[in-house]
Amino acid sequence: AIETVTARRILDSRGNPTVEVDVRLADGSLGRAAVPSGASTGAREAVELRDGDPARWHGKGVDRAVANVNGEIAAAVRGRDAADQAGLDAALIALDGTATKSRLGANAILGVSLAVAKAAATANNQPLYRYLGGDDAHLLPLPMMNIVNGGAHADNPLDFQEFMIVPVGADTFAEAVRMGSEVFHTLRRDLLAAGHSTGVGDEGGFAPELRTAEEALDFVLRAIDGAGYRPGTDIGLVMDPASSEFFRDGVYDYAGEGVRRTPAEHADYLTALIDAYPIVSIEDPMAEDDLDGWRELTARVGDRCQLTGDDVFCTNETLLREGIRTGVGNSVLVKVNQVGTLTEALATVATAQRAGWTVVMSHRSGETEDTTIADLAVATGCGQLKTGSLSRSDRTAKYNQLIRIEEELGDSARFAGRSALRRA
Ligand code: PGA
Ligand code: ZN
Repeated sequence: AIETVTARRILDSRGNPTVEVDVRLADGSLGRAAVPSGASTGAREAVELRDGDPARWHGKGVDRAVANVNGEIAAAVRGRDAADQAGLDAALIALDGTATKSRLGANAILGVSLAVAKAAATANNQPLYRYLGGDDAHLLPLPMMNIVNGGAHADNPLDFQEFMIVPVGADTFAEAVRMGSEVFHTLRRDLLAAGHSTGVGDEGGFAPELRTAEEALDFVLRAIDGAGYRPGTDIGLVMDPASSEFFRDGVYDYAGEGVRRTPAEHADYLTALIDAYPIVSIEDPMAEDDLDGWRELTARVGDRCQLTGDDVFCTNETLLREGIRTGVGNSVLVKVNQVGTLTEALATVATAQRAGWTVVMSHRSGETEDTTIADLAVATGCGQLKTGSLSRSDRTAKYNQLIRIEEELGDSARFAGRSALRRA
């Protein structure tokens, strides 16, 4: 049973405060979880409670969320069975009483939800991925590695937020990490040689002063080739334009490039990129408020490109069901803090999998050293994980955890590889 629940304020990878929760069970087992935070958030995400006092932390304080855990939530969950995750999460949702978790804060609630799961795994003497996924949990995810940062994650002119590589030809997760690292360092060399800065953005990818997606994609392609890999065959390309961020008044406003595109022109542009480059997946190709655009693009290229909904679904099962019903994409991004409890995030994964959609487990741009999502990727067998670049410990911590899991699984470990992108 849960004995104590304690929250504290720690720092995330951008140097902003976030919530960390310790849950201790009667048998002494400890579970600890830290909550991530996004920069390009969807409008329908569960509400992250911030203090809003401009004199402290520039308004981003989490003292109220911490106090909610230490006070009301701790009192409500003390004595509960930690093995009953669904019951715990339902109790947290009921205690909050709002549809968006805005009263207690999704950051407060998620910290407790994840810390309880981790404590229960410890009490069972099991790693988290096995506690949640059972003996069948042996699939290591294909990593989407974000090596060029733009949009809200960097101060350069790139309108698109993320340019990623996926080592589809790797045999193991550890080999995928090696391939990614080699391309990352080759890209660094190429950028330097071209006179570009090699400083990195929020997710550890380079943030050079490039203007167009083509310029970024060309650099990435050259780096794949320069590292000795075949673009498309060994390593594919993935983009997250985060299109909601630059969709204004019905138009896609590429401010960095200095071009405005109508939804049809934006879709034509993306289609041309898919035709010209070995792009296997695009996340948020269209804005969360442009569902017509989403449906049209899905009908047009959905059979040859994974189209993953992030802002449009916000890991919300109800929004996802509607998207599945109406043909909005063919894949869902899962960020536990977008919805606020582990149970709800797992329900979203299950709904997607039942519909034959692919699932990408994901970090946030503001992360911590917490590696829970690595275990969740294996526990759900979702086959894909997005957790940033091959630099910065907030990103590499997740890769390192998966290297450990692959080693622990030994001969039973399977690497998802290219098959992860195929829909059932
Ligand atoms: P965020 O962005 O964590 O800053 O919201 C990540 C993404 O758009 O996938
Ligand atoms: Zn996204």
